[in-house]
Amino acid sequence: MLSKKKKLEEVDPSERGHASTYSQRYFDQPVPKFELPEKSMPANAAYQLIHDELNIDANPALNLASFVTTWMEPEAVKLIGENLHKNFIDHDEYPQTEIIHNRCVNMLARLFNAPEECNSIGTSTVGSSEAIMLGLLAHKWIWKKRRKAAGKPYDRPNVIFGAEVHVCWEKFARYFDVEMRMVPLKEDCFTLRVDEVKKLIDENTIAVGAILGTTYSGQSDPIVELNQLLLDVKKEKGWDIPLHIDAASGGFVVPFTTPDLVWDFRLEQVKSINVSGHKYGLVYPGVGWVIWRDETDFPEELVFKVDYLGGWMPTYTLNFSRGSSGVLAQYYNFLRLGREGYRKIMTNCLENAQYLAKQLEKSGKFTMIHRGDLLPIVAMRLDKKITGYTVFDLSGKLRERGWVMSAYTLPPDAEHIAILRVVVRENFSRDMINILFQDIMGACDKLEKPTERVSPPSRDKHRPIC
Ligand SMILES: Cc1ncc(COP(=O)(O)O)c(C=O)c1O
Repeated sequence: MLSKKKKLEEVDPSERGHASTYSQRYFDQPVPKFELPEKSMPANAAYQLIHDELNIDANPALNLASFVTTWMEPEAVKLIGENLHKNFIDHDEYPQTEIIHNRCVNMLARLFNAPEECNSIGTSTVGSSEAIMLGLLAHKWIWKKRRKAAGKPYDRPNVIFGAEVHVCWEKFARYFDVEMRMVPLKEDCFTLRVDEVKKLIDENTIAVGAILGTTYSGQSDPIVELNQLLLDVKKEKGWDIPLHIDAASGGFVVPFTTPDLVWDFRLEQVKSINVSGHKYGLVYPGVGWVIWRDETDFPEELVFKVDYLGGWMPTYTLNFSRGSSGVLAQYYNFLRLGREGYRKIMTNCLENAQYLAKQLEKSGKFTMIHRGDLLPIVAMRLDKKITGYTVFDLSGKLRERGWVMSAYTLPPDAEHIAILRVVVRENFSRDMINILFQDIMGACDKLEKPTERVSPPSRDKHRPIC
């Protein structure tokens, strides 16, 4: 039995086997928060302290703000657990993991309709952010090499995209010293406008970015039209400007639900595509992918050959060490689900999103922006007649029931528009949708009483959670 008098530092870890978890001293004292503790503590106490504290977090299954996977099959979890200790970058030690990685790249290139005559290449990343930065970095280098060879200046590169992009696009421009030419949104258009892109293009444009399913509304940029614009520019001016498609969410939905929609390597100027394995790729957080149409779209100068780990190996990621399990879990999903499985899951998600959108629209309280048309996303504004409360009040009220729903304002020039968004994932059944709908209606009723309102959150309201 542990003495109540003992201080945290005095407890002998060997006492672990004798004390029941909650009878230990550690539970009536604050846990160390600033200084690394001098003494150890029993494993069961450390586990339980952290485990219990995390109960404060939201329930991931009720987190409708996130695109990121919150459920995987037990067999996938087993595989992840078995491979947590393998550093993905150690290709020499774990050659089979690399082979499996390359199979995933092959499958994705084909899923995105890479032309047969091309030698597509790609890599896994930590997520779409790293994938986008790598994709754009490759375009910057290709542009620079071309300008250098032509004896032209290469010190003023620019990249063009819409204000509806994820923050990682802006990060790329700032971190890698590329001028950002951002097309603002409009009151009635939340996607990239081709006529505005046309005005911004010049010989220093390293790439144009387009999104298949924006973070803000789930809508798609006009990819076919942008491709046509870039073909026209190539013909008229001789500038071969690549189109990078940010298919972070759409890349694992559209190929299965709307295979005839043309957005990928079927379009000539689409030279690179990113997708998040941990969104609709249905893998837990930590995996993304970038695929280049052809190896010539990736400059060899960005490939580093290192021999730290017992063999020469090429690497072209921003990070070095990272876990293998995300990649292996992605391959598990590819084998387990196949196209058939992804098609069924994504169709369910879309139908559930469309069902929810219909109910919300019928209620007369919302103006719909996206009704689960392209992605399983429901994005809406409060109807104009509702003036007594905001989407921030509604999101706050729903949090009392455990639901997490994103409320945010759109980027410039539509920053006066506030949106509420529901991301429907595979583990969100029709019954859960019905419960959510009832709770939204209940929250609206309560908010009609003025005392129930909350202030908008103080965090940056322009950015939805993703
Ligand atoms: C369109 C889009 N691009 C990029 C990202 C960043 O993706 P990741 O979180 O995988 O880095 C997101 C995240 O939601 C996104 O929605």
